[in-house]
Amino acid sequence: MYVKPIIDVVGADLSLFAKPAARLLDLPNRPGFEQAMAFFDDYPARGLSDTKSSAFMHCMVRALQPKLFVEIGTYYAGMTEVVARAMLTNGNNGLLLTIDPFGNHRVPEILKSWPHELGKLVSYMPLDSMGFYTEVDTIKSTVDVCFIDGNHLYEYVFYDLNSMAQRMRPGGIVVMDDYSQPGVFWATKHFLDLNPGWREISGVFDDFDPNAPFTSIRPTVPGTGFLVLAAPNTIEIGDGPSVFEYSEYRETAISGYRLNLGPGNVAGRLHALVYLRSFFDDGSLGDPEQLEIVTSTEISGEDGEQSVLFDTPLATNYDRSLTKREVEINLIWAPLDGRTRLGLLQQPDPIMLN
Ligand SMILES: C[S@@+](CC[C@H](N)C(=O)[O-])C[C@H]1O[C@@H](n2cnc3c(N)ncnc32)[C@H](O)[C@@H]1O
Repeated sequence: MYVKPIIDVVGADLSLFAKPAARLLDLPNRPGFEQAMAFFDDYPARGLSDTKSSAFMHCMVRALQPKLFVEIGTYYAGMTEVVARAMLTNGNNGLLLTIDPFGNHRVPEILKSWPHELGKLVSYMPLDSMGFYTEVDTIKSTVDVCFIDGNHLYEYVFYDLNSMAQRMRPGGIVVMDDYSQPGVFWATKHFLDLNPGWREISGVFDDFDPNAPFTSIRPTVPGTGFLVLAAPNTIEIGDGPSVFEYSEYRETAISGYRLNLGPGNVAGRLHALVYLRSFFDDGSLGDPEQLEIVTSTEISGEDGEQSVLFDTPLATNYDRSLTKREVEINLIWAPLDGRTRLGLLQQPDPIMLN
């Protein structure tokens, strides 16, 4: 397959257009967009996206400068190439992870046919999204931008979006492809209903007409296939459980956890269910142990660290040298005013004891 030479497609600095996220809507009017339209006209050959979607994606990646970009659904790596070209020009050592359970017989060959500097930005995994979400946790890095373009049935899209939302950095961007497919549109709508801190940046859901459910839907950027979603600037805790997992501890106990509160005064009660699980390095030596504690703590204030300490630490009965531990923290927030969610600047930090 023909691969165009590596050039700076846009030839302009778009990095000022990343913040606030709604400014991304102006990208089609910025210098460089027409060049991107010309470059991606009928290119890459096996890309599924129209020219404007590719041009928008390319310019958006130039604007956002992601360190970690995830694509769910590689197909023939058409959009992968559009994104990789932008990341190469960004020059910030970014990584593009792309997954497709049905692509192993074609994607590695396609990537090999690219110029080396382009292909080395990309890591392809022949996994479906469920397998991938387990795998991506081992990378221990939050995702800056994600493109969800796998199975478009409602249940898959809803799962992909909820799972990716857990792994996005605060303020990160998720792009949903094929907005007009009912599974994509409705899964996104229901996700936004459940997660009020997330926004679709152009307000397409505000003027959705339930009396014309198939004809009143529109994309974020006219002429593209995309719904563009912005993550809240903090990790939001609400009235459903937020789950945080940590692993590979040799320490034997947990005495509590630290919270790093974001801006905006909050007051309410934080309910937590914390598990400490221990596993033998050699599984034949015994079964895992699971200890748990439930706490309910008044929290108030803003911007700063607060600790929640248990009355008694959770401590394993197992031999430290033979076992390692994982911690799972489940949080539910009950605000005094009944609506303000608890915003954290980072995941809760378990306080471990030796
Ligand atoms: C619309 S195509 C992707 C197009 C590609 N992103 C592009 O723009 O050129 C959808 C791809 O998702 C893959 N897919 C199907 N189920 C999936 C799943 N559960 N997880 C990840 N990818 C999946 C399919 O094999 C197919 O190649």
